[in-house]
Amino acid sequence: MNILFCGDVVGRSGRDAIKRHVPPLREMFAIDLVVINAENAAGGFGLTERLCGELYDCGVDILTTGNHVWDQRQIIPYIDRDPRLLRPANFPRGTPGAGWRVHQVGGRSVLVINLMGRLFMDALDDPFARLDEIIAEYRLGTAIVAILVDFHAEASSEKMALGHFADGRVSAVFGTHCHVPTADAQILPGGTAYQTDAGMCGDYDSVIGMQKVPAISRFVTKMPGERPQPAEGEATLCGILLETDDRSGLARAVEPVRIGGRLATCLPRR
Ligand SMILES: [Fe+2]
Ligand SMILES: [Fe+2]
Repeated sequence: MNILFCGDVVGRSGRDAIKRHVPPLREMFAIDLVVINAENAAGGFGLTERLCGELYDCGVDILTTGNHVWDQRQIIPYIDRDPRLLRPANFPRGTPGAGWRVHQVGGRSVLVINLMGRLFMDALDDPFARLDEIIAEYRLGTAIVAILVDFHAEASSEKMALGHFADGRVSAVFGTHCHVPTADAQILPGGTAYQTDAGMCGDYDSVIGMQKVPAISRFVTKMPGERPQPAEGEATLCGILLETDDRSGLARAVEPVRIGGRLATCLPRR
């Protein structure tokens, strides 16, 4: 199975990159499933029902999120009505929405799990323990042909630890939240694909997707200033192309994808 995973979509520029690049990528690489982290889709803060629809219309199948999931409050009553939208699975029990779901992809079942880290982030339930609980129910390579984990976390150490913790038990662990792609795409010894951060889909002439002048001034003056706005230049789509083996559920190939905007283009050689 071919899966495209993209990191945090930031504002209009990020959404435009998804619109422009996802349909041709789907075609070019015979992609079966597109999963995108959309926690910053609405002006950098959260996402709305309308924007979920816009992203689905571009050929996106599943949306994951993170610490910004509730920034647009209208998403709270909506999330339980949308089986394609996830919030982190280690939010407290009873939180609206789901943290993992099984999706049908051309008659095959794929489990997508959204988790959030705890290092330098809000206090949450243990993501390692929650992952163990979830995958105890779903064995890879049986009824489930692939398991994809979006680990939304700040610290590279926590992300690498979770990658190795899950190695051989899921198809891929891909990090989000840092808004910068890391150059460590690999298949771990047990067969799980891993990349510490997928990077953002946003304008890289910015401070993690937001306009740079007010962002710099917040560091320089230590004053809150105005509400940050997304940078509006052309976005780079940053993602990862993953190929999995339907029988074992493990990774066959993992390669970074970068198109448009300021970052050097990177297209898988397949
Ligand atoms: Fe983000
Ligand atoms: Fe985040």
